[in-house]
Amino acid sequence: MTAQEIRKAYIDFFVKQKHVPIPRAQLVPQDDPTTLFTGSGMQPLIPYLLGEEHPEGKRLVNSQTCLRAQDIEEVGDNSHTTFFEMLGNWSLGDYFKEEQIKWFFEFLTDEVGLDPNKLYVSCFIGSKEHGIPKDEETAKIWQDLFKSKGIETKIVDIGSQKDGDKKGMDGGRIFYYDDGENWWSRAGGLDTTPIGDPCGPDSEVFYDFGEDKHNESYGKPHPASDSGRFMEIGNQVFMQYLRTKDGFEPLKKKNVDFGGGLERIAAAAINSPDVFKISLLWPIIEKLEELSAKKYGQHTASMRVIADHLRGVVFLAVDGVAPSNKEQGYVARRLIRRAIRYAFELGIEQGICEQITPVIVGLYKKDFPEVAKVEKQVIETLVREERIFRQTLRSGLRQLNKTIDAFGSLTGKDIFRLYDTYGFPVELIKEEAYKRNIDISENADKEFEKLMKQQRERSQTATKGVFKGGLVDHSDETKKLHTATHLMYEALRQVLGDHVVQRGSNVSAQRTRFDFSHPEKVTRDKLDEVEKIVNEQIKKDLKVEWKEYPTKEAFKLGAKGAFGDKYGDKVKVYIMSAPSEKPFSIEICGGPHVEHTGVLAEGGKKFKIAKEEASSAGVRRIKAILK
Ligand code: ALA
Repeated sequence: MTAQEIRKAYIDFFVKQKHVPIPRAQLVPQDDPTTLFTGSGMQPLIPYLLGEEHPEGKRLVNSQTCLRAQDIEEVGDNSHTTFFEMLGNWSLGDYFKEEQIKWFFEFLTDEVGLDPNKLYVSCFIGSKEHGIPKDEETAKIWQDLFKSKGIETKIVDIGSQKDGDKKGMDGGRIFYYDDGENWWSRAGGLDTTPIGDPCGPDSEVFYDFGEDKHNESYGKPHPASDSGRFMEIGNQVFMQYLRTKDGFEPLKKKNVDFGGGLERIAAAAINSPDVFKISLLWPIIEKLEELSAKKYGQHTASMRVIADHLRGVVFLAVDGVAPSNKEQGYVARRLIRRAIRYAFELGIEQGICEQITPVIVGLYKKDFPEVAKVEKQVIETLVREERIFRQTLRSGLRQLNKTIDAFGSLTGKDIFRLYDTYGFPVELIKEEAYKRNIDISENADKEFEKLMKQQRERSQTATKGVFKGGLVDHSDETKKLHTATHLMYEALRQVLGDHVVQRGSNVSAQRTRFDFSHPEKVTRDKLDEVEKIVNEQIKKDLKVEWKEYPTKEAFKLGAKGAFGDKYGDKVKVYIMSAPSEKPFSIEICGGPHVEHTGVLAEGGKKFKIAKEEASSAGVRRIKAILK
């Protein structure tokens, strides 16, 4: 089966089990200040896993496009990609372990046709400290399922990863790992799950590519080892706890969160440990071979980096993220520039985006109609960035030559500045220096490495900082600001006009940030008017309610949405109104909100617009607070 066929078979299979397919969420999370990108299928569903009602019901399925920027440096090996699709199905307080494990096993063996002898699993060992039991129920379900295929299984307490490396599998197929493995939350393991996040024990499924794929330098083989023989192809999380200040509290409803990398399942289906061989990636590699007149076998890592990064940038552009120096745009820029540099090393010195982007778009446009819709703009965005980068490279080259002319040498600081400011590849710097007969001293190399290390630490701290807020925050302050955002959106339309459409929003406990379409700076007078309207509506103590509507009907009611958001057949609509008055605000939204707007004024607070600035062409950004 091709990756495209597997995606379709998976959705069809779960529809048969009464799941409703939901559209993928955009790569940039809405109303979630804690992460830059959607990194798993469950992330957009956190409010529902915490107990909000989902308009499409209790059984959901999709293929969620994900981006994990923290994996950038890992790309180049056989299994890591920054962009990937995660097949996901969810039970929101409906079915649990028995059905989930059975269905996934059936999907893998009967639909995709994987040999059950090549499947290995891991289960949660339990935590005495937190009073969470060993998941023997899951191990038993697995044992019975394997038995139904005539496979006898041994269950092994394997210990830590390191223990596994030392003692190997001991004839087991079902493993309990130590060290808080097999515990899943959006950010962190058992002891590092952020407070307020839903979490729970999980059970991972691994595919065995065969003994000959094992790299002995990793020790003995076992499923969770990175030795090349096994690859994780799916994870079923039994989301039944809430992380609190003091430990873990059972959630009111027990959920299932399943996620499996489409690319990895597709790799297992063709029995190739190299995910770049699958139908969604191989055509990109083939095009790179053609453009460079070089072979994948000799330039594996470079070609993988280019294919992965450009695929990520394409989907970022589809979701409205253009390369820039800020936040998501910065990651897009980093990805595209890395891809261009690697292409340069392959000898592709121009037009890489122009040649590769159409191949990527072609692989997705049938299954993701939104890709087809913006095809032209996406190609333009990438081609433009390539042009800018090549100009940057040229000015870097001038700078390099100036430095050499003036000082006759290059220090580590010079190299770092050329690399950091001009994005000038270090290899090219060295090559230029060599051409001009300049030696780069060992000291300069060391100094450069030191500066690079410092920069890496800075950027790691920045990524961690993004997670610090905890979760899609349900604190009272965040809810209040979320409600204030709806009031502001309506007020902006009343003051500025109907062309105002939400282009992005990000609410934390401290402030709300709201992007909207508007061609020019909003004067302070107008902002004062908006503030005044919002404060009036707070004072009127509007009732905040939500109802579910078929999407078409919601729009007929006049509900506002956000630009580019995709909706399923049914949506949740938040309505804010004073008794017997026409509602002030009607908006499609997942929630949660406060129940009455009056609470926004608690403690004598008022709604204030703290800042108004440009966000991108034709889009303004407002930051507002309650103070
Ligand atoms: N959310 C789980 C994961 O990403 C399924 O592994």
